[in-house]
Amino acid sequence: MGASIIGIGSYLPEKVLSNADLEKMVDTSDEWIVTRTGIRERRICPEDMASSDLGVEAAKRAITDAAISSNEIDMIVCATITADMVFPSTACIIQNKLGLNDIPCFDISAACSGFIYGLEIARSFIVAGKCEKILVVAAECMSRVTDYTDRATCVLLGDGAAAAIIAKTDDNVGIIDSYLGASGLYGNLLYVPAGGSKMPATHETVEKRLHYMKMEGSSLFRIAVNAMAESVKKILERNNLTADRISLIIPHQANIRIIQGVAKLTDIPMEKVFVNIEKYGNMSAASVGVALDEAVKSGKIHKGDLICMVSFGAGLTWAANLIIWSKDG
Ligand SMILES: CC(C)(COP(=O)(O)OP(=O)(O)OC[C@H]1O[C@@H](n2cnc3c(N)ncnc32)[C@H](O)[C@@H]1OP(=O)(O)O)[C@@H](O)C(=O)NCCC(=O)NCCS
Repeated sequence: MGASIIGIGSYLPEKVLSNADLEKMVDTSDEWIVTRTGIRERRICPEDMASSDLGVEAAKRAITDAAISSNEIDMIVCATITADMVFPSTACIIQNKLGLNDIPCFDISAACSGFIYGLEIARSFIVAGKCEKILVVAAECMSRVTDYTDRATCVLLGDGAAAAIIAKTDDNVGIIDSYLGASGLYGNLLYVPAGGSKMPATHETVEKRLHYMKMEGSSLFRIAVNAMAESVKKILERNNLTADRISLIIPHQANIRIIQGVAKLTDIPMEKVFVNIEKYGNMSAASVGVALDEAVKSGKIHKGDLICMVSFGAGLTWAANLIIWSKDG
């Protein structure tokens, strides 16, 4: 028994924050942002929406794409580091907004690797015979943890959501393997200091802007390239496959130079690498999901293709999977 993606959808808020807008907010330039990151614009969630709202819209599109009734879903996994609240889980909020009840729902915090972690969790529950159809949502409002006075981080991030329906399949297709990794040793390279149990919110934490993301960009850059390239190599090797068998690689969209570095180290030509970073920046867990949806909808993925998704994020975490695409169209 296997598990495959039978429906995929994404949702991007309409409001665009361009490099020209950022030039008016911090000491930066369109030229610096484009050459150092590849990003031209990103989407921003409206004030009256939260991650769950973006996730619900993506989920509805995935349900329609899968041509199932939402009542067939027997679990919801939500990958997010920008949960609506500390608790309850955003997955429970999404369940309620979809009009569902009495199915297990939980969040996972694996940052940018969250969608791939979520797909593997769904695959495992399905292969174990515990579930038949699982909704995996990756929903992020990164703008809510972004310090728009810090030019080193605010140019990188955006908001968005992606969702997939994973279902039981009898054939040897779908998600054929996943490689998940993490190292808490490097947790201090990318984190939000305040707002958790270690440093609850006080006037001082707010004044010191400690509820915003802190990042050591250049250290992360090096680790990201190596961790993603190693993840691709390891998952190919243990499946007795070589890089030339991959039809399309969908990497996390953090920086075009990271993506190019991964392509080079894995001997995968850039024509086989899906890139949409220029439109959305880094949407954490949502990035690879949105990229997968766009790749499918733009005809870049066909039934039978071998797809590799690979990501890297806070934790640090990294993850890759191999998918034999089994859906028509
Ligand atoms: C953040 C990142 C784009 C910075 O690019 P970089 O080439 O490493 O640049 P550096 O950090 O070395 O900074 C170079 C200079 O640009 C400046 N700079 C940083 N951000 C800038 C901006 N938005 N506009 C203009 N200049 C900027 C720095 O202050 C520095 O100036 P200095 O040399 O006078 O000190 C890059 O390191 C990166 O993408 N890292 C990974 C981040 C990431 O992926 N995070 C999420 C993981 S999921």
